[in-house]
Amino acid sequence: MTASEYTVEKAKYSDISSVMEINLRTLPENYPRYFFEHLLDRYPETFLVARMNNQVVGYIMCRIEDAIIFSIPLRKVKRGHVVSFAVLPGYRNMGIGTALLIKALDAMKNIYNCYDAFLEVRVTNHAAISLYKKHGFDIATIKKRYYKDGEDAYVMVKRL
Ligand SMILES: CC(C)(COP(=O)(O)OP(=O)(O)OC[C@H]1O[C@@H](n2cnc3c(N)ncnc32)[C@H](O)[C@@H]1OP(=O)(O)O)[C@@H](O)C(=O)NCCC(=O)NCCS
Repeated sequence: MTASEYTVEKAKYSDISSVMEINLRTLPENYPRYFFEHLLDRYPETFLVARMNNQVVGYIMCRIEDAIIFSIPLRKVKRGHVVSFAVLPGYRNMGIGTALLIKALDAMKNIYNCYDAFLEVRVTNHAAISLYKKHGFDIATIKKRYYKDGEDAYVMVKRL
């Protein structure tokens, strides 16, 4: 299959089961259905799926959060938080993850008016860290023992 055969579009409610299945297969951080539904309800522009041959093969879902920048004067801003992001193993390294990420970042900036984007990533997740760096994310800080199994997370941030 070639990269041109996939599409990236806003998720529908009927995609949630497939998204949950991909999440279970690819990441140890899993969530109840109501969490996926909540993010789709509240932030539909940044809940995206990649489809190939009518099958969901990847997704990205985000939350838009309020924050205060401690500058003078103080600024209230919105931040786009990439909550979960994955592509099925057989479909990786074809550009699908990049396409999902770019479209979600674009919606954060141009639809939700976010100041920046951030995410947590396992410090050993070299593929994801490399992808994020390529798209302008920098490591801002480390959250010690952030994950249930005790692994640390990098917090990576990109100004939009
Ligand atoms: C991260 C993920 C979504 C990327 O999806 P993808 O469709 O493979 O992404 P793309 O094809 O657009 O880009 C692949 C990029 O990953 C990076 N990459 C892939 N394998 C890599 C490896 N072994 N070492 C370092 N970087 C690697 C490279 O930057 C590569 O870009 P390049 O081909 O231009 O060098 C996918 O690897 C995945 O689902 N991983 C498991 C879930 C996960 O870790 N999610 C992120 C949680 S924070």
